Order: sequence, then C-alpha cells, then structure tokens
Amino acid sequence: MEAKKKFYITTPIYYPSAKLHIGHAYCTVATDVIARYKRMQGYDVMFLTGTDEHGQKIEEKAKAAGVTPQQFVDNIVLGKGGVKDLWKLMNISNDRFIRTTDDYHVAAIQKIFKKMYENGDIYKGKYTGKYCTPCESFWTESQLVDGKCPDCGGEVKDAEEEAYFFRLSKYAEPVRKLLLEGNFLEPASRVNEMVKNFIDPGLEDLCVSRTSFTWGVPVDFDPGHVVYVWVDALFNYCTALGCMNDKYPDADFEEFWPADVHMVGKEIVRFHSIIWPAMLMSMNMPLPKKIFGHGWLLFGGGKMSKSKGNVVDPYILSERFGVDALRFYLMREFPLGSDGNFSNELLISRINSELANDLGNLLSRSVAMVEKYFGGTIPENRQPDAMDDELIGMVKGLRDKYEQLMDNFGTQDALSEVFRVISRANKYIDETAPWVLAKDMEANGARLAAVMYNLIETLRVCLTLLTPFMPESVEKGFAQIGAAKEDTTWEAAAEWGRLHNITVHKGEALFTRKDMKKDLEALEQLEHPAEAKA
Ligand code: ME8
Ligand code: MG
Repeated sequence: MEAKKKFYITTPIYYPSAKLHIGHAYCTVATDVIARYKRMQGYDVMFLTGTDEHGQKIEEKAKAAGVTPQQFVDNIVLGKGGVKDLWKLMNISNDRFIRTTDDYHVAAIQKIFKKMYENGDIYKGKYTGKYCTPCESFWTESQLVDGKCPDCGGEVKDAEEEAYFFRLSKYAEPVRKLLLEGNFLEPASRVNEMVKNFIDPGLEDLCVSRTSFTWGVPVDFDPGHVVYVWVDALFNYCTALGCMNDKYPDADFEEFWPADVHMVGKEIVRFHSIIWPAMLMSMNMPLPKKIFGHGWLLFGGGKMSKSKGNVVDPYILSERFGVDALRFYLMREFPLGSDGNFSNELLISRINSELANDLGNLLSRSVAMVEKYFGGTIPENRQPDAMDDELIGMVKGLRDKYEQLMDNFGTQDALSEVFRVISRANKYIDETAPWVLAKDMEANGARLAAVMYNLIETLRVCLTLLTPFMPESVEKGFAQIGAAKEDTTWEAAAEWGRLHNITVHKGEALFTRKDMKKDLEALEQLEHPAEAKA
C-alpha cells in the first residue's frame, strides 16, 4: 500500500501572558478545521499548537503577580480554565502541544543558535534602538509611528546593549524572491505589504539576544545573554517534530518537515514570511510551503487584544451556546483572510437562522416525517420525479466545490455552499409537500418514499462536509439519519444514493433557538459583571 500523504499544519504558539481570548480561539479553530478536513481526506496529519512562554513581558507579569515566571505560565497553560483546558473544551484535535519552556525545546534552541553563530550568520554587536515589550519587537526610529510601536500603538523604550545579531540583510534577496514567486504567502495581498514595507527599505540585521532580563533560553556560550524570544518561538515548529532533540524520533522531522501551512495572524506575518525563512536558509533547512496570514477579530472598533483588554471569553460563549455553535459562527461569519467585527448579536442570529432554523429544522422535520409516514424505515420502492433533479444535482456537485474552496482557505465560502444546499432542501420540502402525498399512501407512497430518501441523502452529504466544523453535532445528526461510519467518509460524500434501508432515530434538536434579548443581557452580565450591576 502506498504510504499516506503527510500534512503538517501549525497555529502560532500563543503568549501565556493572560487568559486566551476569542481571537486565539479563532485561529486555533480555523487550523483545527483544516486539520480535520485533511484527515477526512485521508492525509496523515500533524497538527501542532502550543505556547510561547519566554520573554520580558512574561517576566514582568510574573513579577507583578508575585510568582516565578514558570509558576505564572504553568498556571495559565495548565491551570483550571487555562490554555489546555480551553482547547479541550473546544474540541481542538492537535496532535502535539509544545511549550517553549520544555527542556527538549530549550536544549534544541541552544544548538540552533550556536549553529547559526558558527556558520557566521549570528555575530556580536551593539544594539541601540526602541523596544516594544508587549510585541517583543525591536524597532528603529524610522519605523515608529508618531513615536509609538507601529504594531500595537503602545509606548516603546530606549534599549542599548551588547547583543548578538542575525544577518537578516544577507537574506534580503532570496526572501524577496521567495515572496514574489509562487504562493509562499497568502492571501496574496499581504505580499506587497511585506516587500514594500520591510524589504524594499532595506532589511537590517536583527538583534537576537537580550541581556536586560533573564527569562529566556540562555545563550550557552555567553552567559548573561538570552535568545531573543522570536528565535526561540519560530523554531518550535521544528523542535516539536524532534529536530535537534530526542523527545521525538528524527523520523517525525524527516516526514513532516517542511510544514504545509503555518496559520498566523496578520500582525506576525512579518516574522513568518521574512525572518523565519531567512533563519531556515541559514540553517540549511527546507522552507515551509505556505504562510497563511488570517485577519483579526475586531471588537469595539479595534483589534481584540490582551494588552487592550477588550477581549471576549471563549469559555463563556462555549458554555452558553455550545462549542459547535461557536466554532461554526467563527468560520461562517468571517472570511479567513480579512478582519471582521465580532458581535454577540451576530453570533446569536447565525445560531438562530442557520443552525436552529435551516439545518436543525431540515434534520428534525425529515426524521420526524420518516417516522410518521413510514414508522422510521424508508421503503425501497421509490418513485423519482423530475422535480428532484435540481436538489440531487446540487448535492452531487457539492463535495468537489467544497474541496476547491477548502483547499484555498475558503472556509466561509465552503460553509455557504453547504448551507445553500440545506436551504434548497428546505424549499424542496415545501415544493413536494410530503403531508399532501401522505394523504393517499396507496397512490403516493412510493413518491413519498423518494422524497424522504432524497432528504436523508442530502443530510448525509451535508453533515459529512460539516464534520470538520462541528464534529460533535454531526455525529448526533448521523445517528438520527441512521448513517454508519462508512457512509460518512470523504469518498461517500461524493456518492449520491449511498444509503440503503434507511432507518431513522428521532433525537434531540441539534441546536435550539436563542432569545436574542435575553441572551444578550445574560452575556452582558457574564462578560462585564461589574458594569452590568452598576
Ligand atoms: O504573537 N483576531 O502570540 P499571541 C484574530 N507568541 N486572531 C487573533 C487576535 C484577534 N483579535 N488576537 C490574537 C504571538 N489572535 C507569538 C507567536 S509564533 C512562532 C509566536 C491570534 O499570543 C492570531 O493568530 O500574541 C495571532 O497571530 C496570534 O493569536 C497571536 O498570539
Ligand atoms: Mg499579539
């Protein structure tokens, strides 16, 4: 048998400087959806996420909290309601979870740093410039916007110290070529921005060590220096596969590297599309195949962020509306490449219109009718009609359309296509009026059986394609329509007429309607308890 094709996908590793918010959940869910989609297609998938635990900001936060940095990050990552709990709650199917404080990673980073030093790409010099602590970024005077950090708009500090530098300038041309040829960075609109803003003005060498704080990977050949947190962080994608460490077999690295996709937010595209390939070139390692820079969730007009504090808690939303509804909303409401305004109102209206109404009703009505008219089992004797053709045609073409969209990160459009078919099926119920046919079973029984069959088959295919988005709910749906595992595979999603001897089992509604006003008020209470009381 041919070996399964490999697919390696990653999220950014998040800073455990505070509890994660819905923006982090957004990226992680998007990555999870793609990972699940690829598994469904039969790929051998490696899905990595984790936490980026070093740096000055964490050190400062820990100090303010009166704990050690390690205690601080342990609490946010492993504590109750922490990062790991959140991903578990949200059904994130990551295969590995890396923490940059893991011993094997620290040791590997030391080797990597030394290797770049030995090959001459890292050298000792003096750093003078500006530093933005929340972003862990160095800036030159000319990069500042009104004297503030160009990324977050926050204050920057003067920084001057002896430091190591990475010869980023040396890689300007190969990186420019990489960006301009092929599809290394997507959406394509981000390429120009990178080239114009960072490469054209001239890439300066990058300061890659610090001496002003200690919470980092020590440079083992020069005590007092710690490795710049972004060097430490970017290589997580390799160390988590066993690169330069014994935690995982070398074979993992050989099989899965280079990554197929690094999913990242647009504010860190610069690190991933310029600095990261340059360092890999220096290490003589293959480059990732793609960086996808997704957009931001905005809230109250600005980027939702830990430092601004305008965050929405994914726990609260998951608990109130269900994980699948939240996952669905995040993927349905926003195109991956663009920014979008998060709102509780939109979340509730999506749940009501598409999940409870369109999908939920189609399922519950179809199953209820099969029970009512046929005692649960659709007879084999079925009478087709020309009026079935449009629906059947749409279902038959659905998987391939969906595939094309999903392969291009068109998760929102892929969902639209599925819901177009769901709406069409609801209309089909109205057109065929099964309750009228049922009045004369002798004359119309076979016709009614065909109508029911078409509805259940439509549901089978739609639910299958929704699996990466709402893994728990679709299982409940499959049980209700009596679809077995083998009827819900990627291959089966392209087959019309797959189910035989359909026996349905009525179950609970997959999604229930929300009361907009009541739920909004309740959310306000939960999210801003102090203000709501006042
Ligand atoms: O940057 N909307 O970590 P981080 C959408 N440790 N996505 C958002 C978001 C928002 N409002 N806010 C955050 C770091 N994200 C580094 C990464 S990788 C080697 C090191 C998501 O905790 C988005 O994916 O600031 C963004 O890139 C990521 O969280 C940044 O998380
Ligand atoms: Mg950030």
